[in-house]
Amino acid sequence: MNARVRPARRIAGAVTVPGDKSISHRAALLGAVATGVTEVQGLLEGEDCLRTLAAVGALGVEVTRKGPGHYVIQGVGLEGLVEPENVIDCGNSGTTARLLLGLLAGQPFATVLTGDESLRRRPMDRVVEPLSRMGARVIGRGGGRRLPLAIAGNRPLAPIRHAGRVASAQVKSAVLLAGLWASGPVAVAEPAQSRDHTERMLAAYGADLILEGCEVTVRPGRPLTGRLVRVPGDISSAAFFLVAAALAGEGGVTVEGIGLNPTRTGILDVLRAMGADLRVGEAAADGEPRGDVSVRPGRLGGTAIGGALVPRALDELPVLAVAAACADGVTELTDATELRVKESDRIRALATELAKLGARIEERPDGFRITGTAGRPLRGARVSSWGDHRLAMALVVAGLAAEGPTLVEGIDCIGTSYPDFVATCRRLAGEDCIEVLA
Ligand code: S3P
Repeated sequence: MNARVRPARRIAGAVTVPGDKSISHRAALLGAVATGVTEVQGLLEGEDCLRTLAAVGALGVEVTRKGPGHYVIQGVGLEGLVEPENVIDCGNSGTTARLLLGLLAGQPFATVLTGDESLRRRPMDRVVEPLSRMGARVIGRGGGRRLPLAIAGNRPLAPIRHAGRVASAQVKSAVLLAGLWASGPVAVAEPAQSRDHTERMLAAYGADLILEGCEVTVRPGRPLTGRLVRVPGDISSAAFFLVAAALAGEGGVTVEGIGLNPTRTGILDVLRAMGADLRVGEAAADGEPRGDVSVRPGRLGGTAIGGALVPRALDELPVLAVAAACADGVTELTDATELRVKESDRIRALATELAKLGARIEERPDGFRITGTAGRPLRGARVSSWGDHRLAMALVVAGLAAEGPTLVEGIDCIGTSYPDFVATCRRLAGEDCIEVLA
């Protein structure tokens, strides 16, 4: 499917966005191995999280859908997962594959995981290496570096301290989850803080955790207890409307009830540094901080994004590139080599597609340099999503801010994280701002 996007001068309204993707995956996985019932409200029903729910179902866990985003998971406890009858397909979801590998490392049976074309290209050695050191046996393509992979778990696993080269919440989470079946403490140290949803949720479920700066240790032995998880809105989904509204000629958008975990709010820091007119109202926390964020149109300037800010704004960098392309001055992104191994090579993809819209963007090994068009709008053109949901949505935002129509090819992938994205765009930017073409 393709989308024809027309420029929108006015973008206005209040919206809620679907549940946080990272928290939804973790609620499904921890709910599965906890003792007793986990009720999840606001679970993201995008393809990625549905893959995780299907995976825990294949491992013998009963999952019941009570209504939109409302699920009940009958936890089987740390000893209760069963060998799946078939290969588990993780689809497009790196979080499903990597976190599941961590969980499976401690199971006394073998499981085979696969994924779609994009996921089969993505590196798995970053989790396979520490899990193998703990005692799991993994074989797969490229010497165990890529899906499909077979993992035969071991129990108990050996305690380790894993010092990762890159800040990655997926790697950290995989090793911590495996640590639940270890014979002693399992520690993960990161060069910068990545999102800490796993730590927060493990603690809420009753696990024994020690947090010291960018190092976290899980001490096995305590059972996890099922609970109510209220998933906040996904700031990564909100990001598209925040940028669209900041770039519009008039209006203003409020996104209600989104997660404001400080390990995820880099987008707000970047937009503030660019001079956006932003208001953040933090409400009562419930394990995860949440609140409303409003943005009004205004002139944006260039900024520098690097270092510890990168993992805090990781999934928002594509739409921030669009903001940078429309800003005054230069925006430089550094320390973001990780973007090359996301659902697409996002550095290459952004450099290619934004250039088609007239942006001045230079690709760098670890990021890009964008010279904003300084008041001269982007020009509508035919662009491609590269099969990457966040690229597709970022290009729709670019199309709303551009002059003349933009054709975004391959928007089906948006369903992995935000099935209602097009409908919400229409509500904020007008019915005729997007036309979906078969
Ligand atoms: C995620 C971690 C990040 C992020 C991904 C979700 C998670 O990936 O890009 O969309 O839920 O743990 P990395 O851990 O590879 O940085």
